Amino acid sequence: MKSDLVLVTGAGGFIGGHLVADLRRQGYRFIRAVDIKPFEDWCQIFSGAENLSLDLNLRENCLRAARGARQVYNLAANMGGMGFIENNKALCMLSVLINTHMLQAALECGVERYFYSSSACVYNAEKQKRPDCPGLKEEDAYPAMAEDGYGWEKLFSERMCRHFREDFGLQTRVARFHNVYGPFGTWDGGREKAPAAICRKVIEAKASGRLEIEIWGTGERTRSFMYVDDCITGIGKIMPSAILEPVNLGSNELVTINQLVSIVEEIAGVRLKRIYNPSAPQGVTGRNSDNTLLRRHLNWEPGIPLREGLAKTYAWIYDEFAKRQRLGAPLIALGSRSRCDTQSLWPAAPASGSGP
Ligand code: NAD
Ligand code: GDD
Repeated sequence: MKSDLVLVTGAGGFIGGHLVADLRRQGYRFIRAVDIKPFEDWCQIFSGAENLSLDLNLRENCLRAARGARQVYNLAANMGGMGFIENNKALCMLSVLINTHMLQAALECGVERYFYSSSACVYNAEKQKRPDCPGLKEEDAYPAMAEDGYGWEKLFSERMCRHFREDFGLQTRVARFHNVYGPFGTWDGGREKAPAAICRKVIEAKASGRLEIEIWGTGERTRSFMYVDDCITGIGKIMPSAILEPVNLGSNELVTINQLVSIVEEIAGVRLKRIYNPSAPQGVTGRNSDNTLLRRHLNWEPGIPLREGLAKTYAWIYDEFAKRQRLGAPLIALGSRSRCDTQSLWPAAPASGSGP
C-alpha cells in the first residue's frame, strides 16, 4: 500500500474519475478527490477516497485541497468539445484561476510533484490547416496562435507550470491530451466531443427509426482519438518521468470524421443517411499527435485501436441511453444534461465572436 496523500482535482469529471480508480488499483490508500460539482453529478465516485465538493477557482479552497498532499494531479477545468469551447471562450479562460491558485497552494503546502493536463488546443492554427497535415510536434505550439479562449488558457497555464518549476523548484509535469474518449465521458448536453456525440446520434437514429445523422462540417476534417485507458497509462508514466517540457499524450491513428461515423455505424450494425451541417462548430481542419518525444522518453505511446475503444464506448453510451429511456426521459434526449455536464454552474454566456 502507498501512504502518500494524492490530490486529484476535477475528480468528478471523465478523466479524473478514471484516474482515481487507477490510483486505487495501484494501492494508494489516501486519495483526495475534489470537484466543483455536487457529488450526485460526479461521473464516478469512490467511497474509499476523501471526496470534497469545492470551487477551485478560489485560493482558499485550493489550499484546503492541497494540504498534506505530496502529489497533485490538476485536471479541473471548465471544458468540452468544439460545441462548448467555441461558444464559451471567457468561461474557458477563467480556468486560469484554478491552475494559478492550485500552483500557489501546491508550493505553499510543500507538494512534491504536480501534473497539469494541457491540450492539443495549444497548437498553432497555421499547422492544422490541412486534413493530411503531419502530426503536431511539441515545438509546433510556437510561435503561439492557439485555439481562441480555451487553447490560450492552456498555453498560459503550461508556462506557469514551467516557471513555478524553474523559479520555485516545484516539480511540474505537463501533458497535452489529444481528444480523449471512453465510458463515463460526457455524451450529451453540449459539451460532448465527436466520438461520444456520434455514438449518441447513431443510437438515437436506431431508437427512433429515423435513419439519418447530422454531422458537423463536411466530415472531411481529421482527428486522432485516444481511448481513456491509454490516457491514464500515459499520465502514470509522465508524472514520475524526467520529461520537463510539455509532451503530447495522444493517439496517432488519424481518421476523418466520416471514417469515425463509419466505424460507429459498423459497431451498431446500421447505415445512416448523412446530413452535413457546415454552420456547426468545426475547429481546426486536421490534427494528429506526433509521439516521437513520448516514445523517446518512455518507450511507449498510446496504442488502443480506435475500433476497440469505440466498441466499449458505444456499449456504455447505449446502456446509459437505455437507462434514461426506462426512467421515462424522452426517446430523443436532445437538450438534456448528462451526469458530467457542469454548464449549469455558470451564468449563460452569449456566443462570442471569433477574434484574430
Ligand atoms: P471533464 O469536464 O469531464 O472534467 C473536468 C472537471 O473539472 C469537471 O468535473 C468539472 O466539474 C471540474 N471543474 C470545473 N471547474 C472547477 C472548479 N472551479 N473547481 C473544481 N472543479 C472544477 O473533462 P475531462 O475530459 O475529464 O478533462 C480533464 C482535463 O483534461 C481538463 O483539464 C481538460 O481541459 C483536459 N483535456 C481533456 C481532453 C479530452 O479530450 N477529454 C483533451 C485535452 C485536455
Ligand atoms: N462535438 C461534435 N459533435 N463534433 C462533431 C460532431 C458532433 O456531433 N459532428 C462532427 N463533429 C466534428 C467537429 O466539427 C470537429 O471538426 C470534430 O468533429 C472534432 O470535434 P470535437 O471532438 O468536439 O473537438 P476537437 O477535436 O476539435 O477538440 C477537442 O479535443 C481537444 C484536444 O485534442 C476538444 O474537446 C478540446 O476541448 C480538446 O482540448
